[in-house]
Amino acid sequence: MSGSTMRVISQARFGGPEVLETREAPRPEPLPTEVLVRVYAAGVNPVDWKTRAGGGMAGVLGEPPSVLGWDVSGVVEEAGFGVTVWKPGDEVYGMPWFPRSAGAYAEYVTAPARQFARKPATLGHEQAAAVPLAALTAWQALVDTAHVEAGQRVLIHAGAGGVGHLAIQFARHLGAHVITTASAGKHAWLRELGAEQTIDYTTTAFEDVTRDVDVVLDLVGDDQASTSHRSLKVLRPGGLLIAVPSGVSPELLDSARAVGMRATPFLVEPDGTALARIAELIDRGEVAVEVEAVLPLGRAAEAHRRGEQGRTRGKIVLSLH
Ligand SMILES: NC(=O)c1ccc[n+]([C@@H]2O[C@H](COP(=O)([O-])OP(=O)(O)OC[C@H]3O[C@@H](n4cnc5c(N)ncnc54)[C@H](OP(=O)(O)O)[C@@H]3O)[C@@H](O)[C@H]2O)c1
Repeated sequence: MSGSTMRVISQARFGGPEVLETREAPRPEPLPTEVLVRVYAAGVNPVDWKTRAGGGMAGVLGEPPSVLGWDVSGVVEEAGFGVTVWKPGDEVYGMPWFPRSAGAYAEYVTAPARQFARKPATLGHEQAAAVPLAALTAWQALVDTAHVEAGQRVLIHAGAGGVGHLAIQFARHLGAHVITTASAGKHAWLRELGAEQTIDYTTTAFEDVTRDVDVVLDLVGDDQASTSHRSLKVLRPGGLLIAVPSGVSPELLDSARAVGMRATPFLVEPDGTALARIAELIDRGEVAVEVEAVLPLGRAAEAHRRGEQGRTRGKIVLSLH
């Protein structure tokens, strides 16, 4: 294997989608406890285009050249020394290394074996690659952070996006009453996924039509975190705001505390065990994965242009086979 190369989407500088170029790079080799995975599909996430432009996780990745992407679905090609959980030929999916570089826009990745889980059997690689980062975000926020319980009222902002459409289904699975914001054309779909109240944020201020919320998942992350600030008006005393894209400023934290509420920033982490649980829910038909578009790897720039418009229904995925 040593000396062989692979195709990657690389960038030599921070900038717009045009900085993404197809290049040859050395194929990585797995260290002990790692696997080499042949990538069949790579999911595209907002953090990809934010990082491409010099924001997002650019501070972690450092100066280009760099290869973007964290979401992988593929097949184990080689297991490093000591790996007992995977063997060549196993179909796996994962979000390895985050927030360090995973380099998923490539034909191969190496990563710690246990950051992967078995790919959901009912999904093809393109659908499976849409899952890890978005699903782990929704899961870690609702299950591990908010400990959502049956009967609680959960408000999910941006329910139609990659994270939101999975969060609606997880919250419903936990027995919560789900409220979500989205443009009107997406309401029927979000109700099918389990939302009981859908609010058209383009015409209606959510704080005028809902209240007594136990948990708010803010996935909008607008300027001055105004969605997060406004969300304090709808929370119950003691309720929790999870500010996913924008974090929690000292002012927001002060405002929350002043009215007896909690607010927390959030950053997703690799978790193969949670992905295995999520795969079970998918394979039992309890969670559906929406993929708006599949593009070949070489059209990564187009995928970014499309995603950056902020209107994606579910996910965009890059295919390598
Ligand atoms: N901190 C973390 O660990 C973490 C993890 C994952 C994601 N994130 C961040 O969370 C955000 C959401 O991620 P994502 O992957 O779900 O994004 P996405 O898929 O790109 O979200 C697109 C969706 O957002 C909806 N939307 C846009 N503006 C809205 C608004 N003002 N109110 C309600 N809905 C709105 C759109 O619906 P309409 O077309 O109906 O407007 C669209 O369906 C991103 O900023 C991402 O970077 C952070």
